[in-house]
Amino acid sequence: MFTKSYQGILMGFIIGVTCTLWLQQNSQIKTTEMITSAPTTLPSSSTYEQSKSNLSPKFSINYDNIAQFYEEYYKFYELNREWQKKSFLGVHFLQNPNDAITIAEILHDQDIDLVIETGTYRGGAALFFASVMYQYRYNASTKTIRPFKIVTMDINGEAKTFISRYPLLASYITFIPHGSTTEIAKSIVNRTFIEMKPTNVFISLDGNHYAESVYDELVYYQNYLSNIGNYILVQDTRLSSKWHTMFCAEPKLGGPCNGPQEAVNWFLKNEGQGRFVIDPAKEYLFSTHHNGWLKKIA
Ligand SMILES: C[S@@+](CC[C@H](N)C(=O)[O-])C[C@H]1O[C@@H](n2cnc3c(N)ncnc32)[C@H](O)[C@@H]1O
Repeated sequence: MFTKSYQGILMGFIIGVTCTLWLQQNSQIKTTEMITSAPTTLPSSSTYEQSKSNLSPKFSINYDNIAQFYEEYYKFYELNREWQKKSFLGVHFLQNPNDAITIAEILHDQDIDLVIETGTYRGGAALFFASVMYQYRYNASTKTIRPFKIVTMDINGEAKTFISRYPLLASYITFIPHGSTTEIAKSIVNRTFIEMKPTNVFISLDGNHYAESVYDELVYYQNYLSNIGNYILVQDTRLSSKWHTMFCAEPKLGGPCNGPQEAVNWFLKNEGQGRFVIDPAKEYLFSTHHNGWLKKIA
């Protein structure tokens, strides 16, 4: 009796140990498989560039519907005041996130040294530019930073308080509390340009959005874009639409409205002709700056 139950216990013990060993072995195989199949390194940036250029579109946009799409989108963006709803590092950021990523891409891919921004508001965009630029300018192995600068200006001085919350980023931002076409603003931009001798410049016009003001900024600040392929971004061409009675009260610079789009069109017919083109490729999916991404070609 005792011997039989002893044998039973022994048998159970052997079966238990065998099963445990089998399970352990199998789970080890699974774990190893999982680890080896997971990527161990991220693709290098050259692989990324290559994969980007290899992407051929399978489906194209029906451009007959684009105008209607933009009309709906601009209506939604304006009437819901979507443009006021974003922040960057807790600071008001009056940028469409979709366009902001395209700006970040340009900054990095063109190795931009200097950004000139008209219309700082609270400095959300300036802090965003500085954050992105710091990353590609910082060399981890030598712990050095290649110089870069954001010069930004506004008739309102409130940006100073917001920008100074971030001392590291603030050290790369020159805030000018003056209008974009005042002599003082022009002289500070000029001095920075001469001191830095930048190779690649990015210009964002986001100040007074009335046609004549944007046009004056275009005519003046285009001189700081020395490298072919660099961009001037005329922000918020969406304002030249019927949802903005303010910007469509009276036609200016060839009309039909008196907003940023009229400034772009007028500039391209005059000073910018043969030197700048609209680059629709920067309007990834949709842009609040439709026809506002101006690429220097000569
Ligand atoms: C759309 S907000 C700028 C938003 C900012 N770039 C951002 O992304 O957070 C427009 C700003 O332009 C400023 N502004 C108006 N007229 C100006 C001028 N002549 N020169 C510079 N800034 C001006 C306004 O005070 C306002 O703060």
